[in-house]
Amino acid sequence: MSSVQLQRAADVLKRSERLVVLSGAGMSKESGIPTFRDAMEGLWAQFDPEELATPRAFQRNPRLVWEWYESRRLQVLAVQPHAGHYALAALEARLAQVVVITQNVDGLHKRAGSTDVIELHGNITQHKCSADCRGAPTLLDLAALSQDSVPPRCPYCGAYARPNVVWFEEYLPEDALSRAMSLCANADVVLIVGTSGIVQPAASLPYLAKRNGRAFLIDVNPERDEIAPICDLYLQGTAGSILPRLVALISA
Ligand code: OAD
Repeated sequence: MSSVQLQRAADVLKRSERLVVLSGAGMSKESGIPTFRDAMEGLWAQFDPEELATPRAFQRNPRLVWEWYESRRLQVLAVQPHAGHYALAALEARLAQVVVITQNVDGLHKRAGSTDVIELHGNITQHKCSADCRGAPTLLDLAALSQDSVPPRCPYCGAYARPNVVWFEEYLPEDALSRAMSLCANADVVLIVGTSGIVQPAASLPYLAKRNGRAFLIDVNPERDEIAPICDLYLQGTAGSILPRLVALISA
């Protein structure tokens, strides 16, 4: 990536009035959280994530799925946002509008100070009733749940508690997805960071922004991803190195 490309991206971002940031698992890699597909280390190496992150897997073996998510939740709570997360949060004070739409469930954007974050795939630090017995989602306070069973049970209906994340074969939270689509349809700049652009419907959002012809798309990724071909600028590199440099140029 050349300094000319970086400066061009900073100039475009500086002029943006409706910036949407779309982040994926690569955004959290430098915080120490493996991307989704190479998250299966150690004890979990023998499982395919798509065998664990599904409603059927939970019905078949609720304890195994619960324990896998608990290990990921504790990992997330043990790490910190990195300079890239803080750079995105700092953009809010410099630009007219910044909304972060993330596929990540780790909550790191909010912990870094971003105030408008749409968590398309939920949040691994939250829990809900697996039957959503009081509406979707019926959020539960893990600390208040009886630990008599693993997974613990919903105090309202007795169904198992589960992480408040989207599993394969499940729909995304309706309000989150519709707001994300509307923001992308009206964005003038979309900054895409750390996503392979494979997982739908998140992967369609940049195309939605581009289809209206207005949005300028900037892609940040050490490797060329599925979205790079429709982007106006592809900045090859990591979130932790590129985003702080972009903010420094915007602030200059
Ligand atoms: P992936 O794991 O599919 O892709 C991660 C992307 O981040 C890749 O394109 C990497 O090249 C890039 N990357 C790696 N290190 C990076 C770094 N330091 N800085 C920037 N980019 C880096 O993750 P996602 O595209 O986010 O969905 O897809 C993840 C989704 O797939 C998850 O949300 C999950 C899974 O299905 C659900 O759980 C519903």
